[in-house]
Amino acid sequence: MPHPHMVYIKTNLQLPKEIRAVQQGRHISGPVPVMNPGAIGAQVVDERGNPLPPEAHEGPSGADKYQDPEVAESYDAKRENTVKHQEEQVIIEEWLSELPQGNWVMDCPVGTGRFIPFYHEHGLLCRAVDKSRAMLEKAAAKVAEGQHISFNEGNVLDLAGAGFMENSVDAAIMIRLTRWLSPEQCVQAYAQLMRVARKQVIITMRVTEGHPHVRGYDLVEAALHNSGWQIGRNLGIPSDQGYRIVEFVPCG
Ligand SMILES: C[S@@+](CC[C@H](N)C(=O)[O-])C[C@H]1O[C@@H](n2cnc3c(N)ncnc32)[C@H](O)[C@@H]1O
Repeated sequence: MPHPHMVYIKTNLQLPKEIRAVQQGRHISGPVPVMNPGAIGAQVVDERGNPLPPEAHEGPSGADKYQDPEVAESYDAKRENTVKHQEEQVIIEEWLSELPQGNWVMDCPVGTGRFIPFYHEHGLLCRAVDKSRAMLEKAAAKVAEGQHISFNEGNVLDLAGAGFMENSVDAAIMIRLTRWLSPEQCVQAYAQLMRVARKQVIITMRVTEGHPHVRGYDLVEAALHNSGWQIGRNLGIPSDQGYRIVEFVPCG
């Protein structure tokens, strides 16, 4: 049985000394089939409806910049005081606070861990995943004594590879990532989140037409099709209705 006052960390990161590192493992073993976006209708097409190869619309991710410790170091200072950050923080925390204490939230990408203090205050347990070790190290520094959290270096497009079984968490959130994923990858990521979550998925996305980072409702529809999930809530932030916070919930 996990000790109630011990922090459980599955990681090979250099963590602050006060955090007790314990190999957790048991609840996240075993492979999970990875959803193939092609199988759920995701396709990027040209104006005539012909499928486009990924290299025609993906471009380099750019998200590799988050591997840089200097980028990780300055991340919070650049965002924490912005209206967008604060407004989305309020909405997401409000939705997550409806979960009962003791529920598990998978936060991918956790980034520098903006919700980690909230999880602790609300008694939510967290599995934090990010591709960047530098960002995970910043996130780990926000862990409170006695907080239950695990950290994994992993890719949202392969949560099985990060050790996540189907239905293994209560909620899964993916905040501020869609712009770094191609449209096809967004569909794949949404499917991955719905696979690991039992009750709730929360994502953010830009729907403004013509915006360079637009990831529209067509991608959500492709992922939801035949998934057994549907849109729950869908809210624009007060200062920008083109930036949406969208919840998926199981049908019925
Ligand atoms: C803009 S930050 C968002 C972090 C956090 N969710 C927030 O709202 O502050 C993007 C993060 O996504 C991570 N990332 C990029 N591609 C990823 C992927 N395919 N899987 C997991 N993490 C990824 C980056 O390392 C970076 O930490």
